[in-house]
Amino acid sequence: MQRKYTLAILGGTGQQGSALALRWAKAGHRIIIGSRDPARATAAAEQLKAKLPAADASGTSYREAAAAAEVVVLTVPYAAQRTTVEEVRAALTGKILIDATVPLVAPKVARVQLPPEGSAVAAVQKLLGKAVRVVSAFQNVSAHHLRDLAHDVDCDVLVCGDDVAARDLAAQLAADMGLRAVHAGSIVNSAATEALTSLLISINLRYKIAGAGIRITGLP
Ligand SMILES: NC(=O)c1ccc[n+]([C@@H]2O[C@H](COP(=O)([O-])OP(=O)(O)OC[C@H]3O[C@@H](n4cnc5c(N)ncnc54)[C@H](OP(=O)(O)O)[C@@H]3O)[C@@H](O)[C@H]2O)c1
Repeated sequence: MQRKYTLAILGGTGQQGSALALRWAKAGHRIIIGSRDPARATAAAEQLKAKLPAADASGTSYREAAAAAEVVVLTVPYAAQRTTVEEVRAALTGKILIDATVPLVAPKVARVQLPPEGSAVAAVQKLLGKAVRVVSAFQNVSAHHLRDLAHDVDCDVLVCGDDVAARDLAAQLAADMGLRAVHAGSIVNSAATEALTSLLISINLRYKIAGAGIRITGLP
């Protein structure tokens, strides 16, 4: 690990957010879980510390978590993505926002159904403008694998974003939890990573497995 960051995980009470929080806490980062209900966030932080007593973890509201963090991570359902970003917008200025949102449309979550803007995460970058460097990552890594700390996750993390330094930081955070990150281009390319998740869900259903992943070949 290069250095310790203070990371806000907005949606850190849920499946993906709590699993990412656990892995980053194990890597030594300071975790602030954000929730619509601060008490739920505190309970999630306590659960994390029960698993990792040395973890530096706490819980609070979305706004306070985003304000206190150096890097903000978004793991809420697509339906809540824009409202959550708007709620914390003032606290995001000058920061990096790592967004793991997949725009799934129930009940047919195994079908690619991207929003009219083309990509959920690219739409957030457009909304926030240059004041916030948005990175799309972790859409293809299953919480099922991440939450098991003894498990080596067999999946690459595709990292998309318009700012290379922000992508580098997201890639470093992936590496800190034992994952290989691959730079996958500008934020509009997030459409491909978001779409891939529906393919992976379809594969999970067909082969009766819990967390299909992806690997990029040909890299040095
Ligand atoms: N699960 C995975 O394996 C996985 C993998 C890759 C990407 N993702 C993406 O990560 C995001 C979160 O997925 P998840 O599976 O972690 O979902 P989840 O278990 O339902 O958790 C989402 C969290 O978002 C918060 N939230 C805020 N507004 C909400 C609303 N209107 N309705 C419901 N929850 C709301 C909730 O926290 P509070 O109630 O505490 O506010 C909840 O704990 C999604 O965009 C998903 O596509 C998930």
